[in-house]
Amino acid sequence: MANPTLLAQWFPDHELKAPGMRGESIFYRNLEEQLDGRRTSRSVYTLRRNEPAPNSIDFSTLDFLGLTHNGLVRQRFLDELAANPNFNLGAGGSRLLNGNTNYVDMLEKEIAEFHCGEKALLFNSGFDANVALFETIPRPGDVIVFDELVHASMHEGMQSSLALNRRAFKHNDVDSFREVLTDIKETQDLVKKGQRTVIVAVESLYSMDGDCAPLKELVEVAKEIFPEGNAQFVVDEAHTTGVFGKQGRGYVDELGLQHEIAIRMHTCGKALACNGAVVVCRDAVRETLINNARGFIYTTAPSFPMLAAIRSSYKLLMSGQTEHLQSFLQHLVKHFFRTIQDNPIWDEAHDEGILGIPNMEDWEGKPFLTHVLPVMTRQRYTKWLCWHLQLAGFNCFPIDYPVVPRGMNRLRIVVHAHNTEAEVEGLVGAICEWAREMLDIEERGRKGEVPSAARQVIACQTENKAKVGNGKINGNGGKNGC
Ligand SMILES: Cc1ncc(COP(=O)(O)O)c(C=O)c1O
Repeated sequence: MANPTLLAQWFPDHELKAPGMRGESIFYRNLEEQLDGRRTSRSVYTLRRNEPAPNSIDFSTLDFLGLTHNGLVRQRFLDELAANPNFNLGAGGSRLLNGNTNYVDMLEKEIAEFHCGEKALLFNSGFDANVALFETIPRPGDVIVFDELVHASMHEGMQSSLALNRRAFKHNDVDSFREVLTDIKETQDLVKKGQRTVIVAVESLYSMDGDCAPLKELVEVAKEIFPEGNAQFVVDEAHTTGVFGKQGRGYVDELGLQHEIAIRMHTCGKALACNGAVVVCRDAVRETLINNARGFIYTTAPSFPMLAAIRSSYKLLMSGQTEHLQSFLQHLVKHFFRTIQDNPIWDEAHDEGILGIPNMEDWEGKPFLTHVLPVMTRQRYTKWLCWHLQLAGFNCFPIDYPVVPRGMNRLRIVVHAHNTEAEVEGLVGAICEWAREMLDIEERGRKGEVPSAARQVIACQTENKAKVGNGKINGNGGKNGC
């Protein structure tokens, strides 16, 4: 369980560094100056040892099905290695030279078949796959239309795309999508005549907001405006692979849109509990990637252990062994919503703006729920809520700018198949206990009053600062137990 000392380390108050570096090399001063900008706006990242504190309960990792937690993939992986005892560890080169083995060919065929696609192509990561897709698939004169919240990797690919016309539509807003497509049709003659393509980029599930793309509606609008079929979709299934669809085939499968979506990008680092990514598409797309994607051509092919791990995860999905985990995950999210909604504090906290969970709205009428729950509170409270939950033994973190827009920070709760009903109840209890404390504080209206968990962490931060000031950076055992 986390304690105030640990939290003070995880959430340090950053001191500016550049002002104290006069006389040092301009090379380092420039770097620190840039970092100071982030320190000032409290948006600097630090690599901390943020593996869950011992005995804390995981409501943070992206191990959605619990395949890492329960060791299922590890066991399958060891079996896969044992079945291939003479494997070469390294691939020995790019896929285009020595790195294309029977094993990787077989794996891609198996995955394509599983996803009911024509072909599949593996990448070292989802980031690489998205960059490759957007840098190579849109041709000159094509237009890229993207949801304003798509992942950074898609933007990275778009930066090097030959399609210079890129248009955002409002997040998950079908009317905004229609407006953008209509405008493109009116202004882009070749697209209107069906001689150039509109490539639409969306995610299946947006992992900061926990909401899914209204994909059926988007596809319908695209078909209506471009009946020639020259609007095509790329769907990033990073957060739905393994979790949605029959045996975990994903969101597109869940909606029965396999034949409408040109390109699906499935990552293996989240529910599949390993790493890498696979693009499922027609042969023309695959060949285009192989021939043009710099991140595919100029990189070493995946090592055997990486391929074996991906195969192990996919074998688990294919065997149907993860289906009960998908159902249990749905059950737990419902349990979370029901429990928090029934808590006597919920209505008041919600009405007062102390707690809000946007994707909880109308949850009872939804065909499926998502496992990512953004908890919104007043911006300066988010960290306090996180600290309260961490001290109560629940591992979850705030998500801040620049990952989410300014003024939109939130605490992100991720529910997993390895969580239990009792853990969900405990989490809800702790959230509501904190909300009660905040309601009381607001009612008292005493300036500067902070809740008890925050008081403990701030005391440690202050003590740490004093130690830094005294040159005793690593000291411990101070009066706050810091
Ligand atoms: C939506 C989305 N796409 C792509 C990626 C990149 O995938 P990978 O971690 O395999 O690079 C991520 C996150 O990591 C993601 O959240």
